[in-house]
Amino acid sequence: MFLSFLFLLAVVVTPNSAQVHHPSTRKNVLALTPQMGWNSWNHFGCKIDEQLIKETADAMVSTGLASVGYEYINIDDCWGELNRDSQGNLVPKASTFPSGIKALADYVHGKGLKLGIYADAGTKTCSQTMPGSLGHEEQDAKTFASWGVDYLKYDNCENQGISVKDRYPKMSRALLNSGRNIFFSLCEWGQEDPATWAPSIGNSWRTTGDIEDNWNSMTNIADKNDKWARYAGPGHWNDPDMLEVGNGGMTTEEYRSHFSMWALVKAPLLIGCDLRSMDNTTFELLSNKEVIAVNQDRLGVQGRKVKKNDDLEVWAGPLTHKRVAVVLWNRGSSPSNITVNWSDIGLKRTAKMYARDLWMHLTRTGVRGYLSAEVSPHAVKMYVLTPCRS
Ligand code: GAL
Repeated sequence: MFLSFLFLLAVVVTPNSAQVHHPSTRKNVLALTPQMGWNSWNHFGCKIDEQLIKETADAMVSTGLASVGYEYINIDDCWGELNRDSQGNLVPKASTFPSGIKALADYVHGKGLKLGIYADAGTKTCSQTMPGSLGHEEQDAKTFASWGVDYLKYDNCENQGISVKDRYPKMSRALLNSGRNIFFSLCEWGQEDPATWAPSIGNSWRTTGDIEDNWNSMTNIADKNDKWARYAGPGHWNDPDMLEVGNGGMTTEEYRSHFSMWALVKAPLLIGCDLRSMDNTTFELLSNKEVIAVNQDRLGVQGRKVKKNDDLEVWAGPLTHKRVAVVLWNRGSSPSNITVNWSDIGLKRTAKMYARDLWMHLTRTGVRGYLSAEVSPHAVKMYVLTPCRS
């Protein structure tokens, strides 16, 4: 009931009224919709090199994923030498990135994509194999800009106990002063409630610890991230961590749930599998244009959990043109019927809607009052409801 009330506030009292408006001190006009791309960490960890990054950029284009919106190719931890050079600059690791990051950025840009990189707001990165940027913010931001980097993920290891609120704004300002428009992704694992202060600092912020490639981790993270829904909006998003779709630890239905939920809650869609060898099922999940369109909807309101009955949940959020996105999520282990009532999602009981099933690609017309469906264990049904003109 309480959840329904919150949702009603979000959709009925002017579309964005339940969001928190931050005076935007950020001048970059990036992330009007959540970022989409790929990141090396979930699948490859520290086993990365320039060949992998190039082949991933190639695969992003040749598979067609670039054409449905994925654009960032993000290098995570372990791309650099342990020590800075004599001028204090970060140095790409000679054994794995011999051509340097500038050459890689040129290659990725040549494919019509963007390049992301990783640094840390402490004295060392989390892998302990690279220097951190604490005290070197201006210099490192300039280095990244000079290489043509488009995106920075900024981690939180070896932080010397200094508050995030001192460390992250410094890099934010340094990026703004760098002369290049660089996406700023904060990664302090949700430790100091970043949703409450990061919207004016960065374009996205992690709300939780690291995702693991299993059902429990994914579902727990979805719940933790939900708490911060009202702080997200165009230019600044909650980040429940990167996708595990295609990495093998969940079933197809679990991955479909994962992708549908990340889309609904306006999470960054950062693929974490090996694009060069993904199977057809993985491709079909990641490339569903109707699900991606929910994530990229211009209204930019994060969908929320609006109803819960044991393991049976309804999540929903408003979209442009008075539409509503709905996910019926069966988190239990037997097939079950799940119902969303129009009153759960701020619609008039008499409203007649088209109900588009985004995975079956089927539309039902004249649906009134409620929508019910049988949902398999650990699976979802995902819909967009659009008002019927009467
Ligand atoms: C963690 C971060 C991960 C990954 C890793 C690299 O702190 O949450 O996403 O970047 O560091 O060492």
